[in-house]
Amino acid sequence: MKIDAYLTPLFTEKETQFDNSIVLMIDVMRASTTICAALNNSAKEIIAIDTVDKAVQLYSNLSRESRFIGGERNGVKPSGFDAGNSPDDYPEELVKSKTVIVTTTNGTPLFQKCKKAKAKLVVGFINHNAVLEHIEALIAADPTITEVAVLCAGSDSRLAYEDTLCAGAYIDSIINRFTNVEITDTALAAKSLYQMHAADLKEFIKTREHSQFLEKIGFSKDIDTCLEFNKFPVVPVITGNSIKIA
Ligand code: MLT
Repeated sequence: MKIDAYLTPLFTEKETQFDNSIVLMIDVMRASTTICAALNNSAKEIIAIDTVDKAVQLYSNLSRESRFIGGERNGVKPSGFDAGNSPDDYPEELVKSKTVIVTTTNGTPLFQKCKKAKAKLVVGFINHNAVLEHIEALIAADPTITEVAVLCAGSDSRLAYEDTLCAGAYIDSIINRFTNVEITDTALAAKSLYQMHAADLKEFIKTREHSQFLEKIGFSKDIDTCLEFNKFPVVPVITGNSIKIA
């Protein structure tokens, strides 16, 4: 099996590139984490939308009692939305059994990629072990799966260190679980960076750009949530725009 990684979303997708792949989609801070929080708190479904206008349009077509809309632009809640992009904005009492429409700057556009993959999963540190178990089950059930590809949302088409380290953590774990793994240069680079920072992972990520930004705009608590391994042990599967628990 091959393990590949894409540390920014800025690559040209070839027609059949992901046909036999499980694709892990990472936006540690904060889209992946917040989607896992909402599903862990019994949201019925997440609908990931790339623009605010389209998200509002969809929201207005749903019944009042079944809908909820959240997300961010420049890190903060768009005007008129029910929630921002903090995991704490999606407690069970607000999202249980609801259709949650989410739009974020870098995360939700990423989820549109790799339409023909065997499986697309929303992943972060918060669901690490659950995702690994799911990958094992998918591969055991389908011998045509030949690749795990890890895609990072990054930030404005540039690398985000927290996404790269989260990718490296998955790659490291996958290599330890499977035999005969072929690893690409990008995947090896992510794994090496993860190993370099594994001992001080949280402290290091807190010094980096997006953590500093979130701290400046008042979301320090979100940083701790996003960096907690296995806090939300759900496996969100993307099908079209819809994201549901596996
Ligand atoms: C994004 O999609 O760019 C993010 O999740 C940004 C954030 O809310 O911190």
